[in-house]
Amino acid sequence: MQKVQFFDTTLRDGEQTPGVNFNTQEKVQIALQLENWGIDVIEAGFPISSQGDFEAVQAIARACKTAQIGGLARCNKKDIDRAYEALKDAAHSQIHVFIATSPIHREHKLNMTKEEILASVKEHVSYARTLFENVQFSPEDATRTEWEFLVEVIQLAIESGATVINIPDTVGYTNPTEYANLFKYLREHVASFDQAIFSSHCHDDLGMAVANTMAAFENGARRVEGTVNGIGERAGNTALEEVAVALHIRQDAYGFDSNIKLSETKRTSDLVSRLAGMPVPRNKAIIGANAYAHESGIHQDGVLKNPETYEIITPQLVGVEKNALPLGKLSGRHAFIDRMESLNYDMSDKEAVNGLFVKFKDLADRKKSITNADLHAIYAGKHIEDTGRYELVQLTVQIINDKMSAATVAVHDREDDNKLKHATATGSGMVDAVYSAINEISGKAVRLQQYEIDAVTEGIDAQAQVHVTVLGSDGFIHNGTGIDHDVVRASAKAYLQALD
Ligand code: KIV
Ligand code: ZN
Repeated sequence: MQKVQFFDTTLRDGEQTPGVNFNTQEKVQIALQLENWGIDVIEAGFPISSQGDFEAVQAIARACKTAQIGGLARCNKKDIDRAYEALKDAAHSQIHVFIATSPIHREHKLNMTKEEILASVKEHVSYARTLFENVQFSPEDATRTEWEFLVEVIQLAIESGATVINIPDTVGYTNPTEYANLFKYLREHVASFDQAIFSSHCHDDLGMAVANTMAAFENGARRVEGTVNGIGERAGNTALEEVAVALHIRQDAYGFDSNIKLSETKRTSDLVSRLAGMPVPRNKAIIGANAYAHESGIHQDGVLKNPETYEIITPQLVGVEKNALPLGKLSGRHAFIDRMESLNYDMSDKEAVNGLFVKFKDLADRKKSITNADLHAIYAGKHIEDTGRYELVQLTVQIINDKMSAATVAVHDREDDNKLKHATATGSGMVDAVYSAINEISGKAVRLQQYEIDAVTEGIDAQAQVHVTVLGSDGFIHNGTGIDHDVVRASAKAYLQALD
């Protein structure tokens, strides 16, 4: 069966989500998991955009071994040189060069004629090809570009050395019929169509990104670009986990295979959700908490008689483990390390293992059985706590009456000599009081925009996972995630991360 390629841009287009900001260490962690998941090409960033992005792309290029690592560049020699510098240590690399081609972008953004666009494509794709074996070219806003002109641009890009042609639906405007027809038209009119891999890149403004992607596969596309959980600018990008599972479940309809290891899907999604501080909606296809839940009596009856009556995907297929043997408070260090290793965590650093084991024991004292979901949460929570600016060292709350609570919070500030800082404040509830105390400690004026709480597993003793979004005085929004067995502590940790 023919394979299609998966190109992940969670770390570039995905990071353009308002409030999402991964640090280099988090980016490397995500990239390694993407590689584990079976992604063929990881777009690690836009190296010229900032020193931080350059360093992150470089770190990912050095850490990953099997995936091609990509960097974005405008049609501009400085961008291409910077991408080359960032990617030169990669085992496998590719550059992604783009320029907008639609009339609205030509006239209002670039102020360039069609002839100038063509000249720039020729010059910069050829130049990129002198430095990279794999050169992807994107005519930005392709779906709103005149089709004849698009053919001219693409033909020239291939003649200049492009090995992949990506067709972005930059503003999420197209629909499956139209996008299918566009690919059909390109296949019929681009003379060198077979000399390049054609790729789809869809945005979800009208909720059709995945459907558009599947339509492209049916008409010549052999690569999909998208992000984990569909994160991205505005309504986001094509959700890669949805495409991967659709190709598998509907192999009869599409007839394509991929390198994606479906059992790593849930883990990849959880990691990105936690580090992005963006919860996955419960009803989200494939990885939402309700995706495998059956509520109505008729459905439950059917599933009990034969799961296939109402279930086309098993939770096990995507790595949602229901029956993994739980650990408990009597489980020792050996069993803990064994299980963590079986979950693909590197347990070679003794000091890190000690810290994780303390967390595990602490949770085991409060929770009857520790599942794999708990272990993933312990690992993620520890990572967030260890890498943030503030370390929560004490939290006391008191409900004074039905209108007022008081909280005392103490933190170590890692960016200020690890000084102990504390404050006491009141609020209309426990979380409000805690957040007022933290505001006082940080000296930052932020506005809480969103607060969401979820349980990591089922049961009254489950760990809490809190996601918050705050509006900073810088005018930007910032996300934070906190995980703890106590909801108020999880709330405090999430807020501290957002402030950081
Ligand atoms: O959506 C878009 O057009 C992009 C390009 C940079 C490919 O992300
Ligand atoms: Zn995009």
